[in-house]
Amino acid sequence: MNAQTEKKPIIEMHNIRKTYGPVIALAGVSIKIYPGECHCLLGDNGAGKSTFIKTMSGVVKPTEGDIIVGGNVQNFENPRDAMEAGIATVHQHLAMIPLMSVSRNFFLGNEPTKKIAGIQFYDREKADHETMEAMRKMGINLRGPDQAVGTLSGGERQTVAISRAVHFGAKVLILDEPTSALGVRQTSNVLATIDKVRKEGVAVVFITHNVRHALAVGDRFTVLNRGTTHGTAERGGITPEALQDLMAGGQELASLEGSLGGTV
Ligand SMILES: Nc1ncnc2c1ncn2[C@@H]1O[C@H](COP(=O)(O)OP(=O)(O)OP(=O)(O)O)[C@@H](O)[C@H]1O
Ligand SMILES: [Mg+2]
Repeated sequence: MNAQTEKKPIIEMHNIRKTYGPVIALAGVSIKIYPGECHCLLGDNGAGKSTFIKTMSGVVKPTEGDIIVGGNVQNFENPRDAMEAGIATVHQHLAMIPLMSVSRNFFLGNEPTKKIAGIQFYDREKADHETMEAMRKMGINLRGPDQAVGTLSGGERQTVAISRAVHFGAKVLILDEPTSALGVRQTSNVLATIDKVRKEGVAVVFITHNVRHALAVGDRFTVLNRGTTHGTAERGGITPEALQDLMAGGQELASLEGSLGGTV
C-alpha cells in the first residue's frame, strides 16, 4: 500500500458501459483517480480511451455505471456540469487563437473586468499579471504577456492550456494525447508540466499510446483493451514490456521486434 491508496479518490468511475447500437465501446470499466496522482490511460486505437474520458467530462452519457465525485453520484448532462465539478479536459488540438496574445488566450471566456465610472472594462493589467505569474510557475518565461500564442512551441502551448485549466479551478485534468504530435524536447516540457500540476494536488488523467511517455511521469497505469481493463498497475509494479503487452499491439510488436532483431 502506498500513500495513494490511503487517500480518498477525487473521482471514481464505477462499471462504466457505453454502447452505440451494436458497438460496445466500453464494457464496464472501473477506475479510481486520486488527488495529486498522474493516472495514465493507455490502449490501442479503438480501445475506448476517448469514449471513457468523454463520459468523465460530461460529453457522452454512459449507458450504465456511476460517476462518483467526492463521494456523490453525478449525473453530468453536459461538459459544463463536469467543469463545475472540477473536471477539465485539454485536447491535443487546443482551443486557442494563435494571433492573440497568451494573456488574452489565457482568459478567453473568463475575462477579468474593472469598473470605471460604473462601466465595466476588461482589466488588462490583472490579466497580464496573472498570466505572467502562472506561466512563470510552470517554468515558461514569456517575452511579455503580449506575446502571440502562435509564436510559442507546441509544448509551450500545451502548458498554457494546462495552467489555464488549473488556474480556473480544475481538480481533475484530463489530457487527451498531449504528447502525440510533439518532438522530444517539447514532450519533456509537457511531462514536466504534468509533474508540477500533480505536485499542486491536481489529479492528472494522461491518455497516451506511448508507454515511455507514460512511464516517465505516471504514478498508476490503466490499460484499456477493446472496452475492458484488467485493472490498474502501480508505478514500479509493472515492467515496460508487460505494459506494452497489455496494449493490443503488444504481442505483434514483440514478434516483429524479434524478427527484425531490434527494438521497434
Ligand atoms: N459516436 C460513436 N458512434 C459509434 N461508435 C463509436 C462512437 N464513438 C466511438 N465509437 C466506437 O467505440 C470504440 C472506441 O472508440 P474510442 O474513440 O473511444 O477509442 P480510442 O481508444 O480513443 O481510440 P484512438 O486511440 O484511436 O483515439 C471504437 O470501436 C469506435 O469506433
Ligand atoms: Mg481517442
